[in-house]
Amino acid sequence: LEETLLPVPPAAANASQGLPGAIIIGVRKGGTRALLEMLDLHPAVAAAPAEVHFFDLDENYRHGLGWYRAQMPASLPGQLTVEKTPGYFASPKAPARVRHMDRAVRLLLIVRDPVQRLVSDYTQVLRNRQLRKKPYPALEELLLRQGRVNPGYRALQRSLYHLHLRRWLAHFPRAQIHVVDGDALVRDPLPELKRTERFLGLPARIGAANFYFNATKGFYCLRPLGGHDRCLDESKGRAHAPLAAAVLRALCRFFREPNHTFFRLVGRSFDWC
Ligand code: A3P
Repeated sequence: LEETLLPVPPAAANASQGLPGAIIIGVRKGGTRALLEMLDLHPAVAAAPAEVHFFDLDENYRHGLGWYRAQMPASLPGQLTVEKTPGYFASPKAPARVRHMDRAVRLLLIVRDPVQRLVSDYTQVLRNRQLRKKPYPALEELLLRQGRVNPGYRALQRSLYHLHLRRWLAHFPRAQIHVVDGDALVRDPLPELKRTERFLGLPARIGAANFYFNATKGFYCLRPLGGHDRCLDESKGRAHAPLAAAVLRALCRFFREPNHTFFRLVGRSFDWC
């Protein structure tokens, strides 16, 4: 989990906590935090600060929709509540549960080159282990079995986007899932944000003045109107664990077919390795 869960009490007299009208379902390490924080620059968006993990974790789902609603931020009438939990995308139970809550909810899926996503995923787990002074195998050890790509490695499975998307498409029409290009969001966030605003039916309010490039971080950072400049925290945009060129090539080969299946499902292609 990214942050501790704290129910957010309503602030203003006419504010209340509503169920989300849009959910960022994943993918983990795809840029989900950046997308949520950038969307939150919009005056008509109320973003849940923490990952709620309602639809993917039985122990939370058991608490029911009242509990889920209590995790949402205070919102004013007309505001769109948005939550993000990247664990939803690869969760077999999440799609039916989300549909059961609201068959019209809008879904946002931010994807990124699956090989880079895998390395980012590994780097995050490694870092968390290091912080707890626990050992963790080298990426190659998890990734390869007798010199071949190990299909049982969980971080690899999370990058098989077509498998997960198929489950969502069994419950939601394609038009209800907006796919954001995470690599494009890093290079130039504004066009992706404008497309997302349109998909969500929000008036165009996010503009170039909301972003600036921070050369030290090497990423775009946020400039909320009337607020303070800020970058995402240091766990976002960190150096990746090194990977031998030959392993990288083997991974790119491995993902070629799954990626094409994903492209067919979403009706567009991406410039992945
Ligand atoms: P890396 O740390 O591998 O670079 P998530 O929020 O889903 O965990 O995704 C984390 C990823 O968001 C980061 O992965 C980073 O590449 C990406 N990202 C996109 N825009 C960013 C931004 N403006 N600042 C920092 N990270 C950003």
